[in-house]
Amino acid sequence: MASRPAVFVSRVIPEQGLTLLREHCDVTVWPHDRAPSRDELIEHARGKDAIVCLLTEKVDSSVLAELPTVKIVANVAVGFDNLDIPAGTSAGVVMTNTPGVLDETTADLAFALLMATARRIVEADKLLRSGTWSGWGIMQMLGHDVHHASLGIIGFGRIGRCVARRANGFSMKVVYSDAMPAPPEVERELGVRCVSLDELLATSDFVSVHVPLLPETRHLIDAAALKKMKKTACLINTSRGPVVDEEALAAALRDGVIAGAGLDVYEFEPKVSPELVAMDNVVLLPHIASASHATRGKMAEIAARNVIAFFAGDPPPTALNPEVVSKTHAKA
Ligand code: DGY
Repeated sequence: MASRPAVFVSRVIPEQGLTLLREHCDVTVWPHDRAPSRDELIEHARGKDAIVCLLTEKVDSSVLAELPTVKIVANVAVGFDNLDIPAGTSAGVVMTNTPGVLDETTADLAFALLMATARRIVEADKLLRSGTWSGWGIMQMLGHDVHHASLGIIGFGRIGRCVARRANGFSMKVVYSDAMPAPPEVERELGVRCVSLDELLATSDFVSVHVPLLPETRHLIDAAALKKMKKTACLINTSRGPVVDEEALAAALRDGVIAGAGLDVYEFEPKVSPELVAMDNVVLLPHIASASHATRGKMAEIAARNVIAFFAGDPPPTALNPEVVSKTHAKA
């Protein structure tokens, strides 16, 4: 492309991404601290060559049909359930995500949620701040041990494995379930065993979810799955909200089917079940698993590098539909 590509960025993203983009492209940034609506996205991206967007922007065939000049959509997230990849492929639009850079940071937060839920950290903090703490009590704020407990990891990709590594430091017994078992050397290194989902649910003190949102993982954790868990178990979810049936989870917690939950993601973000909000045995975070300065900076940088590489005639490093790249380059 002879002139500088025009890029619409759907939110202020970390400076390291914006600086890189501005070196190579004409950049327009959505200035508001909220996601653009579908119509706003279309209005602002109209006539642009590329979109850099967040997981809050749905880019599907109807959006792409309105934006015939857009050649690449770079998501600043590893999860890409907001992008319709087949629609991108048939429209000849390259779509990219940000894998690899947020695994450790997300695993840190999954573990923080696990510990906070098990040891009632948020409840204890609230008690102290309420001014009603009357001093040390032997029966006060009793929780569940994390060390030597059993952990079931659902989805044993990069993030799941990082969680297993942390669990080893706490002498936890770790099992996982995944459609594609890890190589034996990885299982040996991490001291983990692949089991069926049913066995994992029935035997784990903590269940941590790390699968992408796909048609087959939507409501993977439903009322029936929750019933299979131990009454004393806690569910941790840092993947995508719709993997867990939120209504069924609230009912399970209310009825004592499981003991607690630590959630970073919700079925209908930014809405959260009011029933969950009212519960003390639940720790609720606002989808911040990858929210460290360093990691969010790297995510923005990867998105920018995908756009820059594409317009330089190179393959974007993390294309989700790489088969489209050469065809789109040929047309440019
Ligand atoms: C992702 O990248 O998919 C996270 O949910 C946000 O960082």
